[in-house]
Amino acid sequence: MSSNPNKSEQVRAMFARIAHRYDLMNRLMTGGLDLRWRQQAIQACALPPDAWVLDVGAGTGDLAAEALRQRPGALVVGCDFTLPMMLRGRMKPGRDRIRWVGGDALRLPFPDEQFDAVVSGFVMRNVADLDQAFREQSRVVRPSGRVACLEAIRPPRRWWTPLYRFYFHRTVPWMGAIVAGDRAAYTYLPQSVEGFFTLEELARAMIRAGLILQEARTFLLGTVALIVSMKPDRR
Ligand SMILES: C[S@@+](CC[C@H](N)C(=O)[O-])C[C@H]1O[C@@H](n2cnc3c(N)ncnc32)[C@H](O)[C@@H]1O
Repeated sequence: MSSNPNKSEQVRAMFARIAHRYDLMNRLMTGGLDLRWRQQAIQACALPPDAWVLDVGAGTGDLAAEALRQRPGALVVGCDFTLPMMLRGRMKPGRDRIRWVGGDALRLPFPDEQFDAVVSGFVMRNVADLDQAFREQSRVVRPSGRVACLEAIRPPRRWWTPLYRFYFHRTVPWMGAIVAGDRAAYTYLPQSVEGFFTLEELARAMIRAGLILQEARTFLLGTVALIVSMKPDRR
């Protein structure tokens, strides 16, 4: 996937528009299942009690908050390039403990090997250069540290594919229009998933960034993936 500066601008403008309803729409679209996936993503990182964790494209901070819930002694940084998403997240109880940092996933504003784990939730589909984003995550995680990616993927074709497509292409944009007042943003969502990768393709992108695959699993009939990899040790 090549770099596309216009994509970054469009993505940022879209998330700024829907920030006020972003969390509610997530709960409605997934029936609250996204909270369970986030729990599993953080568990898969096997964090030490005082871990340093980076949530890339943190948005309103749901993954970062889950890391703090599981490891209250952790230092958790939420980094995103859409200010209204972070401001919205910061208003939620307990989220002032997240260190909020404005920054681009393609040029993370952190030194090399700073974090014990780097996580992202539903971000990588939106970046203009997937390989560069994983290279940056690989750069800032310490050797033997984990990189966990939770993302909606292009599911394999099954008998239920028409039902999934109806829900995603018809119901979700309608919900987006009613709840968030933004049909366009929730039309982009299914389109971005269809134009995105399968589980295998996403895993291969992590490997290209020099990471070693640890585990890959899917949720909700193969429509959401959690892929966890590790930065090789220097020894
Ligand atoms: C679908 S939201 C996910 C938010 C959060 N991670 C979650 O799990 O709910 C995608 C987020 O990624 C951010 N994002 C997309 N591309 C980015 C980039 N290049 N740099 C930083 N943030 C980015 C958007 O601003 C948005 O907040």
